[in-house]
Amino acid sequence: MKETLYIAHPDRYTTGVGYRRCGQSGILLPKISLGMWHNFGHTHSVETARNILFHAFNNGITHFDLANNYGPPPGTAELFFGQMMKGSFAPYRDEMFIATKAGYDMWEGPYGSWGSRKHLISSLNQSLQRMNLDYVDLFYSHRYDPNTPLEETLQTLVDIVRSGKALYVGISRWPREASEFAFRYLREAKVPALIYQGRFNLLDRAPEQEGILEAAHKAGSGFISFSPLAQGLLSNRYLNGIPEGSRMTEERFLKSEMLTPSILYKIKLLNELAEQRGETLAGMALAWILHHPEVTSVLVGVSSPEQLTLNLKATQAAPFSVEELKHIEQIITQ
Ligand SMILES: NC(=O)c1ccc[n+]([C@@H]2O[C@H](COP(=O)([O-])OP(=O)(O)OC[C@H]3O[C@@H](n4cnc5c(N)ncnc54)[C@H](OP(=O)(O)O)[C@@H]3O)[C@@H](O)[C@H]2O)c1
Repeated sequence: MKETLYIAHPDRYTTGVGYRRCGQSGILLPKISLGMWHNFGHTHSVETARNILFHAFNNGITHFDLANNYGPPPGTAELFFGQMMKGSFAPYRDEMFIATKAGYDMWEGPYGSWGSRKHLISSLNQSLQRMNLDYVDLFYSHRYDPNTPLEETLQTLVDIVRSGKALYVGISRWPREASEFAFRYLREAKVPALIYQGRFNLLDRAPEQEGILEAAHKAGSGFISFSPLAQGLLSNRYLNGIPEGSRMTEERFLKSEMLTPSILYKIKLLNELAEQRGETLAGMALAWILHHPEVTSVLVGVSSPEQLTLNLKATQAAPFSVEELKHIEQIITQ
């Protein structure tokens, strides 16, 4: 990869994104964090990917979220990030909060996924190599494994922190009861879960409905919302059809069948409300998540620096009035 001279913007911490404390920890996370699930693999422009990362860091986004399997193909987002860490971002390592995860399918055979000690430790070792890092700031169990004793997965997370390969640990997409067990186990082991990562947005309120937000908050853990724009549905991207080059045209994780008449109707109404507030739909959708006090950060994915600029406006959004909140509730529950 061609190296670019990069000097981070000097005002990034004063005019930037703003920070929230992550649960009852010492860590502050930016209100908007950057996820690297899509747009940073081999199928995407390296130049755009690099510009997105520069733009994020220049605006005070310190938290970068990866996983072993991000790409495509799996591993390539970490490889790309590793090039950045060796080059332009090398002087800024201590200003960054870098997360990775293990648990989804990564390599062949019985140890290539899920929650065993073998998978988690081998995968983290591979991630560190790909990212040119000695340690990650945050390591997640990426999914709940119903067939591995929870104690094995959780004790491995504890041991990973004790080994110095991660500073903090978190859980992602674990059901409520198992999460409560994890929060207790990790706190008793003196390695409290820093954060819970779950999908929470205007079209999917499962963490609220299932009590995960409340459980994380009670346990002193932060909460970070992934796919806060429902992969782009909660933006102007699909208001007038399916544009060329959009995630939906890939028909992988965001399929065109998800753009049902009912969803389209809701996003059009939400878009009208956003316009009345002088915001984009994406900006209002992010502001709505951040309006929940249990939420530490929203984890956006973007395919261009321009999208990130729009999303950053959410941090300056006016508070919602009671009427606006009622109106939103009416739209999303109909
Ligand atoms: N823990 C887990 O299991 C899990 C699962 C999923 C995701 N995640 C994490 O969450 C991160 C974010 O997920 P996500 O990428 O699904 O998030 P998202 O923010 O809901 O969707 C991102 C997509 O929305 C579109 N978009 C973003 N901003 C826009 C704007 N201002 N205007 C118009 N379109 C806009 C872009 O689509 P186009 O590409 O079409 O431009 C972009 O690729 C991931 O990168 C990953 O780190 C974690």
